[in-house]
Amino acid sequence: MTVEADKPADDGRKLALVTGATRGIGAAIAQRLAGDGHRVIGTATSDQGAAQISEALADEGEGLVMRVEDEASVADAYRQIEDRYGMPLVIVNNAGVTRDNLLLRMKSEDWQTVVQTNLSSMYLVIKPALRNMMKARWGRIINLSSVVARMGNPGQSNYVASKAGIEGFTRSLAQEIASRGITVNAVAPGFIETDMTAQLEPDQVRQMRERIPAGRLGSVEDIAHAVSFLASDGAGYVTGETLQINGGLYMG
Ligand SMILES: NC(=O)c1ccc[n+]([C@@H]2O[C@H](COP(=O)([O-])OP(=O)(O)OC[C@H]3O[C@@H](n4cnc5c(N)ncnc54)[C@H](OP(=O)(O)O)[C@@H]3O)[C@@H](O)[C@H]2O)c1
Repeated sequence: MTVEADKPADDGRKLALVTGATRGIGAAIAQRLAGDGHRVIGTATSDQGAAQISEALADEGEGLVMRVEDEASVADAYRQIEDRYGMPLVIVNNAGVTRDNLLLRMKSEDWQTVVQTNLSSMYLVIKPALRNMMKARWGRIINLSSVVARMGNPGQSNYVASKAGIEGFTRSLAQEIASRGITVNAVAPGFIETDMTAQLEPDQVRQMRERIPAGRLGSVEDIAHAVSFLASDGAGYVTGETLQINGGLYMG
């Protein structure tokens, strides 16, 4: 999908890129950042998803296709963004997938898909935007991890490896670019009501709810609120951190 030509290029708003903004947590983050006054580019894996994002964001931004594990797709999306708006000063790496199975039964492609989509995408999506953030001496990078990065979770070794990798990556990049006014943080949601968790059996959901001290699953707004804070000017001294948002499920 090409970026529409009838929207204004420079109206003083900071540009925020949110990957995986068609639904769930990413859609809520895109809406929240738009409400905070950012111009938002939300990404999808299909033209239909991109059109849906454009409709949801209306004048506050638009959707385009970016497959975060595919270098050519990322480059193509960035070409469109740069031509139309310049490069983003806020990046929210939200796109993520699961392919759950015990390691003994896990297919190689399920390992590769999860690690490439969730973790290798950090390299592909962040690197092209870094120079511009350095020049601006301002940037906000927020990466979606998960509570299971620290807890571990049987049947999710691929997913947990990718999320634990994100947290280590976040701390390292934060140290590399802190002096340039760019912060890099992770947000680790607990059990949030989205399509991703809707795949679970009702019994699993009930058991999980019983383990959450807050007594409820999290909402997508719980996560969007934290991302909004980390993207703000006021969070300029917070970097390399992983913010746990899990209703008390895990406090380690
Ligand atoms: N839900 C939870 O309880 C929970 C807990 C902890 C962490 N998280 C993390 O939070 C993030 C969002 O989770 P969610 O539950 O909102 O997920 P979701 O409802 O399954 O949505 C996933 C999003 O990622 C996009 N996506 C999938 N594969 C992609 C690819 N290869 N390239 C680009 N985009 C891709 C999807 O786009 P399409 O619609 O176009 O496929 C969709 O917008 C993920 O990183 C997830 O690991 C979620």
